Amino acid sequence: MVEIEIIGVVGSGQMGSGIAQISAVHGVDVWVHDTDTAALSRASKSISDSLHRLLSKGRLSQSGATDALRRLHYTSNLEELRSADVIIEAIVESEEVKKSLFRKLDKITKASAILASNTSSISITRLASATSRPHQVIGMHFMNPPPTMKLVEIIRGADTSDETFRTIKTLAERFGKTIICSQDFSGFIVNRILMPMINEAFFALYTAVATKENIDLGMKLGTNHPMGPLELADLIGLDVCLSIMKVLYAGLGDSKYAPCPLLVQYVDAGRHGRKCGIGVYNYSKASQKPNP
Ligand code: NAI
Repeated sequence: MVEIEIIGVVGSGQMGSGIAQISAVHGVDVWVHDTDTAALSRASKSISDSLHRLLSKGRLSQSGATDALRRLHYTSNLEELRSADVIIEAIVESEEVKKSLFRKLDKITKASAILASNTSSISITRLASATSRPHQVIGMHFMNPPPTMKLVEIIRGADTSDETFRTIKTLAERFGKTIICSQDFSGFIVNRILMPMINEAFFALYTAVATKENIDLGMKLGTNHPMGPLELADLIGLDVCLSIMKVLYAGLGDSKYAPCPLLVQYVDAGRHGRKCGIGVYNYSKASQKPNP
């Protein structure tokens, strides 16, 4: 099994920054890369704020926080990730963009390095085909937000080796996560089920079945979900939800996965959810919260 001392995280958005944080807290040196230097600065601040919150709540020691911060390195130069034992990719949910990155990572990283993707829906087998090491490519799908959500979904591509699987399973367990294993079909387990529900909530809104507040409240109190589907979509990112629906639609070939026109329109309008201040709900308002 590969010994994990250095992790490279590619993409420093909401998922990449959370994955970098838990890696550092669990004793791994982390190189975080993003092509956008502003995203790197935001990630550095959000990780530091999050570690200080854990410290103030007594869930992390002072030395734990200091050590974690010391282990984190931020770079806009992908080549700095060359000595990583594992790369965890968390960039935009686009097969072409991810494949192009995997081609570069295959050239840059050492031969033993594992290339893991945090993709929500895209075929691991196809990402692996962009590399010369398909046996070392695997899906390692964290939930949002990675530091608090207990699950990691592991997806083996057609050629993923047992050794790669064992190494990533052990890493997820070191992070304190429970794992589930999925076959490599569009959306895997969690998003195969979650995204059609979110898409249906958009259809309910689109066809004026109810207000957004009542749709969310109905699913919270009626089915005991901690968040309503529209609030959750805003947290995930409407752009990410739309990308996943497109992958489900293309990969599973059933019209029931066609993205709701209202979801498409919101994304076209730049309403990407919480991360940009507006999605289904408007977070720039004084309340800052959906008000069902
Ligand atoms: P995000 O939009 O918050 O962050 C993506 C980051 O990747 C951005 O900072 C962007 O500058 C960077 N990036 C884009 N192309 C790049 C490239 N070629 N090289 C380096 N950096 C690049 O996205 P988020 O939400 O963190 O999602 C990232 C991945 O995680 C996606 O594959 C998504 O499907 C998956 N995911 C998302 C979840 C969510 O709830 N948002 C949950 C689980 C997985």
